[in-house]
Amino acid sequence: MKIYKTQAEIQRYINAKRSLSIGFVPTMGALHDGHLSLVNKALIENELCVVSIFVNPTQFDNPNDLKKYPRTLQKDASLLQTVSDKVLIYAPNATDLYGSEIKSRHFKFGPIAKEMEGAFRHGHFDGVGTVVSLLFDAVKPSSAYFGEKDFQQLQIIKKLVQIEKYNIQIVGCDIVRERNGLAKSSRNTRLSEKQFDEAALIYKTLKEVKQKWGSISISSINEYVKKVFKQHNGLELEYFVIANEATLKTVKRKRNTNTYRAFIVVFSGEVRLIDNLSLGQG
Ligand code: PAF
Repeated sequence: MKIYKTQAEIQRYINAKRSLSIGFVPTMGALHDGHLSLVNKALIENELCVVSIFVNPTQFDNPNDLKKYPRTLQKDASLLQTVSDKVLIYAPNATDLYGSEIKSRHFKFGPIAKEMEGAFRHGHFDGVGTVVSLLFDAVKPSSAYFGEKDFQQLQIIKKLVQIEKYNIQIVGCDIVRERNGLAKSSRNTRLSEKQFDEAALIYKTLKEVKQKWGSISISSINEYVKKVFKQHNGLELEYFVIANEATLKTVKRKRNTNTYRAFIVVFSGEVRLIDNLSLGQG
């Protein structure tokens, strides 16, 4: 499989295929079934699929997380080769993508960027916005595919498209899960077998939250989740919130005209695991 390493190369190829619709799947590599579900959707809806593989330094606020992020380009290429010959990889290096200054732009994403990941990972969404806009400029896709595991990121990208006036359709795709319910993530490869098994508690707890949603108050649900993770030595809760799905604002009391979602981040050792589940209306 051909791996395009520079903007000049990928643009030459794409310009030659200008009449074809391009579905784009931006990734940081270490591909798994979650990514493949995005690629398959992109292939159903487009004539070509470009997968970018780039571990973006500007979206990491933790240098250790950046250093330990799995990098498996050849394995990723072999995996994509089994999917279709209509898939190609764009794997630039940082200087080719950013130029000589590898830094974030500042975006006015508004209140949605201040909640949850925005509050806990300083500068994260400016880093994501910067790299995604650079990638969109390089690939010029018709549609781009993002997983709902990073639900807040998906809303940020939709906002980015509005701000930058891109003519790109943003498609959100369902979370793909491991057999034990853990959301698929490239970071899962850093978990030991024991940690992987323990991490099943995250989705189990989200499902319990959904069951309790109709019958107990949000503050009781919050207390319940804190208690579950306090009782578990191997997993440390960073945050759990129930938020309005449209505004992403944390809510204390529900209204039955709004739609809500539960969001959670848990550390297993050094590995940060993120998940969410739709709760439906209040
Ligand atoms: O979701 C990811 O893997 C990354 O945040 C993305 C969208 C590829 C930008 O680096």
